Order: sequence, then structure tokens, then C-alpha cells
Amino acid sequence: MMKGRSRRDRRIRRAGIVSVGKYMPPTVLTNRDLEEIVDTSDDWIVERTGIRERRVARSGERQSDLALKASREALARAGWDAEDLDMIIVATVTPDYIVPSSANTLAGKLGAIGAASSDTLAACSGFLYAMHQGVTAVESGRADRVLVVGSELMTTITNWGDRSTCVLFGDGAGAILLAPVPEPLGVVDMLLGSDGRYEEVLRMRAGGSAFPASHETVDKGWHYLEMEGPEVFKLAVRSMLQVSSTLLERNRIKPSRLGCFIGHQANLRIIEAVTKRLGLKPTQVYNNIERYGNTTSATIPTCMYGAEMEGKIKKGDWVLLVSFGAGLTWAGILLRWAVGRLPRLEEKAGLPSDTAVDTYPDRLKPGRDRQER
Ligand code: ACO
Repeated sequence: MMKGRSRRDRRIRRAGIVSVGKYMPPTVLTNRDLEEIVDTSDDWIVERTGIRERRVARSGERQSDLALKASREALARAGWDAEDLDMIIVATVTPDYIVPSSANTLAGKLGAIGAASSDTLAACSGFLYAMHQGVTAVESGRADRVLVVGSELMTTITNWGDRSTCVLFGDGAGAILLAPVPEPLGVVDMLLGSDGRYEEVLRMRAGGSAFPASHETVDKGWHYLEMEGPEVFKLAVRSMLQVSSTLLERNRIKPSRLGCFIGHQANLRIIEAVTKRLGLKPTQVYNNIERYGNTTSATIPTCMYGAEMEGKIKKGDWVLLVSFGAGLTWAGILLRWAVGRLPRLEEKAGLPSDTAVDTYPDRLKPGRDRQER
């Protein structure tokens, strides 16, 4: 049963982010490495996307393993125990299984027995949709301590023969903790939306009930992501701009007051188009796409982690988080950063250490499925 307050005690209160954690698999796949896999070039990828390298999980490593490491770090930095959690929400398009949810698996691995746990599926907007759910639970008094995770093994649903998509994605996980915080800190406004008419521009056809996995779906490559890149690009700029402007205008916040803008890391050119039109300075924008590529639901929490670690977000700063994704879905959250500098875990005490492996997992074998779609 979900922990929390009784209905009588509930009232609207502020929810804020009180800790962040991140885990990136140590194995790096550079653009030069990709030149060995598909007909592409470092120059093309950097110029068209801003990506230089991405991370790849090793064979046998699961999405819940990445989520676990990011979550443990967030918990350790806040000094919370997993048993204290009321609710765990995992945003992912690459769950370990369809049944049970990744959040269930994560709860078990963490030892968060009794916490409510479920997944949120909204593609690249998944993390902000999940955060919306967690914030609403804290604001209403239904939960006091919520873990929200964005975690992906995108390299498992990437067609390593399709140069138009395989250069974009990477693996990784980010986690945040939500709790009540005093006003004026915490989440000030949230906006979610979708337009389901665009499902064909970005999708993975097989594996659900419409096309259960079969020899035929595998032969057709329907277990990989398919995307009409240029169409998605236009829709992404339009929706991210709209969400950002609406949130800023209705809260009477001038763009110049933003301490940090974090947009979904799908393409540096998309982020630059949006932030330029908003009139933001580069110093107000935090990106990690250059190092990690598009990690889908992990982009926003891992950027928050980087910005916090590098001292680019300080207590009281206005922060705008904006995303878009398949569906089409979009989301934005405007908040005031609620905590001062969080402890750095020098040795990541209690967390398993990692060493990079210099061979890539089988799924990336050069030439596999080359240009087969
Ligand atoms: N290397 C070299 N050439 C390439 C590559 C590559 N990796 N990929 C495509 N090309 C070629 C194309 O074949 C095409 O060649 P042609 O002119 O001879 O036909 C040319 O480059 C231009 O292709 P476009 O698709 O028009 O290139 P564009 O500038 O649009 O960039 C990209 C493609 C990077 C995919 C871009 O459209 C994009 O970023 N789109 C949005 C992606 C996105 O936001 N996805 C959503 C998030 S994912 C989620 O929600 C799960």
C-alpha cells in the first residue's frame, strides 16, 4: 500500500527536487567508431546533431541496473534510505520486461519494499511526465518521498544498419528525489500535452499487442526505432518553443531571469533553434548531448545532474525543463532550485565501481543488418 498522508491532512504544498543521481555505462562509442559500423562520418554527425560520442551498456547489463546505480547515488547524496520511499516512478521506452514494470524491478533491487512503483511511457517526454506524477503526489500530500528515474538502454532498440537513427542514441540513467520544500522554492508550474496524429513519424512497431514479436517482425526490423527525422525536427522546435513561451509568460518570468534552461537532448540544432528564439544566452543553457547523445528519458535528469555538479544551478535559481518526444508528446516544468550544493560522493561509497570494456556488445557488430531497412 502507498505510504503518505490521510485525505484529511492533504493540502497543496510545494514539491521540489532535493537530490540528483546519474549513471552512464563507461564504454564510449565515438563517431569514429560508428564510421566502422555504418556509412557515416564524424563531420556529418557533429555538424547535423552536435553529438561526438555516446555510452553503450555491456552485454547482460539491464536497464534496471543503470536505474539502480543512478537511484543509489541520488539516495546517498540526500542521506535517504530506500525504505523511506513512498513512490518510485521510472520513465523508459526500454524496460527490462513489459511485465512487470521496471519500477517494480528497481524497487526490489533497492529494497524499497512497500513503495508504490510503476513505469511511465511517453518516449522522450517520459521523464517530465513521470516527474509531473511525482510532483502532483507530493503537492497533494499523497506522498512525501518520491524517486523519479529516467533510464534507457537505447542501443538495444537501435538498428545498427540504419545510419539515420543509430548515430543519435545512447544508454544512460538519471534519478531525482522529490519532497516537500518551502515556498518560494520548488516546482512552480507544469505543462503536458500530446498530439497522437503523429504516431507514424517516430515509433517502434513490434513487441506490443499490435505486432507481437515474431519471425516476421524481426525480419522486417520492426523491433527497432523508426523515425522521419526532418519531420520530427520541425515538430520538436515548434512544440518546445510553445511549451517554453507558455510557461514563462503565464508565470511572468522573463527569459533573462532563467538560471538554467534544460531541453531534451535530441539534436543540438533543435535546442539552439529554441533557445535562440527565446533570446537565451548560451550561459543559461545546459547540454550534455555532445558526450552522451540522445538517452531519451535520461537526458533531462542527467543534464540536471551535470548542471548541479558544475555549479551551474544554485539554490533559488529559476530552471526551465522542456521536452518533446514520440507520440507526439511534449512537456515543460518551471521550478526554483530547492537545494544548495549537494554532497559529492567521492568514491561513490557503497556503489559498485565500473571499468570500461573495450569490446562492444554483440548487438553493435559492424555490418550487422547493414542498411537493411
Ligand atoms: N551520416 C551521413 N549521412 C547521413 C546520415 C548519417 N548518419 N544520416 C542521414 N544522412 C544523409 C541522408 O541520407 C540524406 O542524404 P541525401 O540528401 O543524399 O538523401 C542527408 O544525409 C540529409 O538527411 P536528412 O534526414 O534530411 O538530415 P537532417 O539534417 O534532417 O538530419 C537528423 C537528420 C539528425 C535525424 C535530424 O532530422 C534530427 O535530429 N531529427 C530529429 C530527431 C529527434 O528529435 N528525434 C526525437 C527524439 S527520439 C524519441 O522520442 C524516442
